[in-house]
Amino acid sequence: MRILITGGAGFIGSNLAWSLLSGGHEVHVIDDMSRGKLSNLHPAVLTRTLDITGPALPEAVAAIAPDVVVHLAAQTSVSASLADPQRDWSVNVEGTRAVARAAREVRAKRVLSASSAAVYGEPVRIPVHETDVKKPANPYGRSKLEAERVLAQELRGSGTDFASLRFSNVYGPRQDWQGEGGVVAIFSAAMTRKEAPVVYGTGKQTRDFIYVGDIVAAISRAIVADTDLAEQGDDGPAYNISTGTETSLEGLVAALRLVSGYLGPIRTCPAREGDVERSALDPSKFFETTGFRANVPMESGLERTVEWLARQG
Ligand SMILES: NC(=O)c1ccc[n+]([C@@H]2O[C@H](COP(=O)([O-])OP(=O)(O)OC[C@H]3O[C@@H](n4cnc5c(N)ncnc54)[C@H](O)[C@@H]3O)[C@@H](O)[C@H]2O)c1
Repeated sequence: MRILITGGAGFIGSNLAWSLLSGGHEVHVIDDMSRGKLSNLHPAVLTRTLDITGPALPEAVAAIAPDVVVHLAAQTSVSASLADPQRDWSVNVEGTRAVARAAREVRAKRVLSASSAAVYGEPVRIPVHETDVKKPANPYGRSKLEAERVLAQELRGSGTDFASLRFSNVYGPRQDWQGEGGVVAIFSAAMTRKEAPVVYGTGKQTRDFIYVGDIVAAISRAIVADTDLAEQGDDGPAYNISTGTETSLEGLVAALRLVSGYLGPIRTCPAREGDVERSALDPSKFFETTGFRANVPMESGLERTVEWLARQG
């Protein structure tokens, strides 16, 4: 299959590109390299450095003529979304509109667009179901929710199937640990260097951590799904991609102590604006639709992450 990954030089996209390539697919990437790295990609991945919000996008997508588009390109930093909500909106909402339109023009079979647990904000129950209240706690979450609406607006009835995949907290190799990466990457990097991890808030706040290999496997399953993903059950095209398990930041630190051997102190700082207290997403709908369930235990995922970090020097 010919597959286009937008944002394919980033953390999730580059892991997906490697996996799809080894599965025999023709893989194309469009990425503006604002956070992605060319060095993340195998030379056999056909890569164009391009902004999805720019005028060159339709022609580039037409030249590729993909069967499936996996849309991952986004402004992904919560703090950047607080500092510049307009830029966040432009990339995440208007960028999604541009990608959906370009995919529709070339009659792609399917568009899979990355959404996020951030669309729910503070949950009313755990684990969160797709139909639960959506009250994003920051501009990033608001832009992701609007991107879902725009995707449906552009593609419903067009003949191009689509889905918004609401990832929980993804971690694993190639995640940025230097800037504002995920908490697992930042804690792992600190603890493998025998430095104290910085916990914002009480440490009791929870997240639903999912290994990037599970995310790649879920997207791969969605690519080949033989049902219409846009119209399945509650909340139509939205699917949680998650484990359904809550882990506290304290619990994460404890697990990382075992993997990294770090026994030193932890630094604490006041809670950050825009962070929720609890999060875990119910993955049943995606399982019932595709038969996929996340299956990498946290200890193995953390081991692989720490091993990868150790190789980065
Ligand atoms: N990592 C997570 O925990 C997580 C959780 C939920 C949802 N998501 C979503 O998954 C997707 C991938 O996230 P990631 O963690 O790999 O992030 P990432 O920042 O590593 O990757 C995003 C990629 O998009 C590219 N990009 C940004 N703006 C662009 C633009 N205007 N044009 C072209 N390319 C552009 C960046 O260069 C980067 O390579 C995002 O849509 C994100 O919102 C991630």
